[in-house]
This record gives sequence, structure tokens and C-alpha cells, in this order.
Amino acid sequence: MYGVYSTLRLLDPKFPRTSEEPKRIGQRHAGAKKMLLLFLLALLAGAAAFLLFKFATVVDGDLTLVSRGPPRRERVDGKVVWITGASRGIGEVLSMQFANLGAKLILSARNKDELERVKQNILSKNPDSRIEVLPMDLSAGEESLKQVVHAAESLFSNAGIDYMIHNAAFERPKRGALEESEGGLKATFNVNVIGTINLTRLLAPYMLDRGMGHFVVMSSAAGKVPAPGQAVYSASKHALNGYFTSLRSELCTKGIKVTVVCPGPIETPQSSAAASSVQRHSSEKRVSVERCAELTIVAATHGLKEAWISYQPVLTVMYLVQYMPTIGYWLMDKIGAKRLDAAAKKGNTYSWNLIFGGKKSA
Ligand SMILES: NC(=O)c1ccc[n+]([C@@H]2O[C@H](COP(=O)([O-])OP(=O)(O)OC[C@H]3O[C@@H](n4cnc5c(N)ncnc54)[C@H](OP(=O)(O)O)[C@@H]3O)[C@@H](O)[C@H]2O)c1
Repeated sequence: MYGVYSTLRLLDPKFPRTSEEPKRIGQRHAGAKKMLLLFLLALLAGAAAFLLFKFATVVDGDLTLVSRGPPRRERVDGKVVWITGASRGIGEVLSMQFANLGAKLILSARNKDELERVKQNILSKNPDSRIEVLPMDLSAGEESLKQVVHAAESLFSNAGIDYMIHNAAFERPKRGALEESEGGLKATFNVNVIGTINLTRLLAPYMLDRGMGHFVVMSSAAGKVPAPGQAVYSASKHALNGYFTSLRSELCTKGIKVTVVCPGPIETPQSSAAASSVQRHSSEKRVSVERCAELTIVAATHGLKEAWISYQPVLTVMYLVQYMPTIGYWLMDKIGAKRLDAAAKKGNTYSWNLIFGGKKSA
């Protein structure tokens, strides 16, 4: 019956309505609205599940960082980039990638031969690169560092340093917080903290005279969250974060920029060699050293203040400790003893098992 009325009303809009018609139309609209709402909710839930899946499986950095584009070549092309710890690992790959972007490089570490090897390797792929080797020991004290800074500033016809990449660091094998000796404590802090801060104190005045300069600090996830088994290393990286975020607040209006980079586990040739001599767990997922270097340059050239580089579960722990510290620290307290145990057995110290597994980890 209603169908007949509808047809007649279609043919003649002035055809009188039945008393039922408005009610039915209202019901039909309410039904359609409900369906649309359900559809939108399902779409949202699907999108959220997809993003969560991506976050859990492929995302290798914090969301601000991974939403940025590729490194901005125009920010480094022709600039002087001084990299410490350039003789191997992340520093070596950073040097290659900065050279690919047209930067003039100063490579530093203690081992001159290794620095020469890195230089020749870059030149064999980029013959036009301009590279200077400047050996130095970060723990050698202020007088020695003063001379190194003066030498670095004088290179490339006194161009001065545009980017200071503080990448060198010293890390002791994993052990309990109370097992570290005073010698180990000093060895770590002399390089990671005192040497790095001294270099900054000595270089920054040159940058301030020019009204520009960018410090890129290779910190660590251990500089943001507890790192059971690496308490002293973690303390040194927390110290760096504290110093450089304060420095930025003091000097950002004078042209000084600071990018603090916090990587989780990274697959360097060294870590691969270490892993081949002990058990390597399939769940241990490290970001490749090339990707770590690329994301570091993305963070620096896009002017990010802080960047995190890691797969799960470290990335989630970093988010929790930063934004929900009560939950984050509760989780780390559950992990602590198991991670120490895993480190002692040379097992996987970045495993989901530490969170979800039993008391003792593999
Ligand atoms: N690899 C990771 O999984 C990871 C994760 C998070 C953070 N990070 C951080 O990323 C940075 C690079 O890590 P990496 O694994 O590539 O390190 P790495 O392979 O151990 O290399 C350390 C570099 O620092 C230099 N260095 C050590 N002591 C020095 C000193 N007293 N003076 C000057 N240079 C010194 C070393 O060269 P010489 O021995 O020739 O001096 C070497 O070039 C470090 O700051 C590290 O804390 C690494």
C-alpha cells in the first residue's frame, strides 16, 4: 500500500500524504543514519587496526620523524659537517650519507688508520667529496680539545663548522648497576659526557660569532627510558639529553640548533659480529645502520628537536615512559631482572619475551 502512495507522490508531488507516511519516512532516515554511522565506525576501526599493525611491525621511528620526507639536501650541500666516532658503525655510515648529500666532511675518532679507510671508501664512491681526517681523543682533556676545535674551524679555508655530529661514545658490556667499578664509570662519563660537553663548550662560541650552528647528538633510547644492565651508559645518555635540551633553550634565539637522536638497537657490523658468536633470536629486530643514519639526517635537516629510532618493543616502551610514565615504569620494573638475566646469558635483551615471558628469559 505504501508503495502505491510513494509512486503516486512521485508522479504528483501535491498528492495528499497518508497519516503513516511521515512516520515511515522518519524511520527510514533513522535507519539510514544508523547504517552510515556503523559504516563510519567500522571504517575507523579498520584504519586504527591497520595503523596499529603498521606501528607494531614496520614503523622504525617516532611518528613525527617517520612522517617527514627524505633528507633535505639543500640544508647540507656544501656545508661543513664534523662527525665524531666516524671510524666505524653508525658514524661511518653517517659520513657516507652526508657525503652523498654534498657535505664537506671532517672525520674524527682516535684511530687514524680507520678514519683514512673510511675517507678512501667514501672517495671511491664519491670522488668529488671533500674530506678531512682529524684524529682526536674525546677524553684527552680541555687543552687538547681546544687545539682540535681550532684545527677543525680552520679547515676548508676557515669555513667553520655548520653541523657538529656528536656520535662517538664508549659503552661497557652489560652488567648490573651495582657491579660497575669507578674506573668503568669514569671511562664512560669521560667520553660520553665530559668530552662531548667540553667539545661543545669550545666550539659553540665560534658558532655564536657566525650566528649559526647545529649540534646533532647521538643519544640513545637508554637516554630516555631505564636500561637495566646498562645503568651507567644510560646515565651518561640521560646527562647528554639534559645538557643539550638546556643548551638549546639558552641559545636557540642566537641561531644555535640542537637535534637529540635516540636510537634503540641498531644493526651495525659490530653488533652483527657479536651476535654471530652468541645466540641470535628471531624476535630480535634491529634497525639497519643505513636506515638509522638516514633517519638521523632526516631529523637534522627537518629541524626536529628530538627523534627516536627503533622497532618494537622499544618504541612502545619509549612512548609509554614519555606519555604514561606510571605504566611505562611499571613495565620496566617487570622487565628489569629478566633483562639482566638475559644479558648475563648473552641472550636477546630487546625481546617481547621480557614483557610477556616467564620469570627467566632466554
Ligand atoms: N649501535 C647501537 O645499537 C646504538 C644504539 C643506541 C645508540 N647508539 C649510539 O650511537 C653512537 C654510535 O654507536 P656505534 O654502535 O656506531 O658505536 P661504535 O661502533 O662503538 O663506535 C664508537 C665510535 O666512537 C669512537 N670513540 C670511542 N671512544 C672515543 C674517544 N675516546 N675519543 C674519540 N672517539 C672515540 C670510536 O672510534 P675510536 O675507537 O677509533 O676512537 C668509534 O668510531 C654512539 O653514541 C652510541 O651510544 C648506538
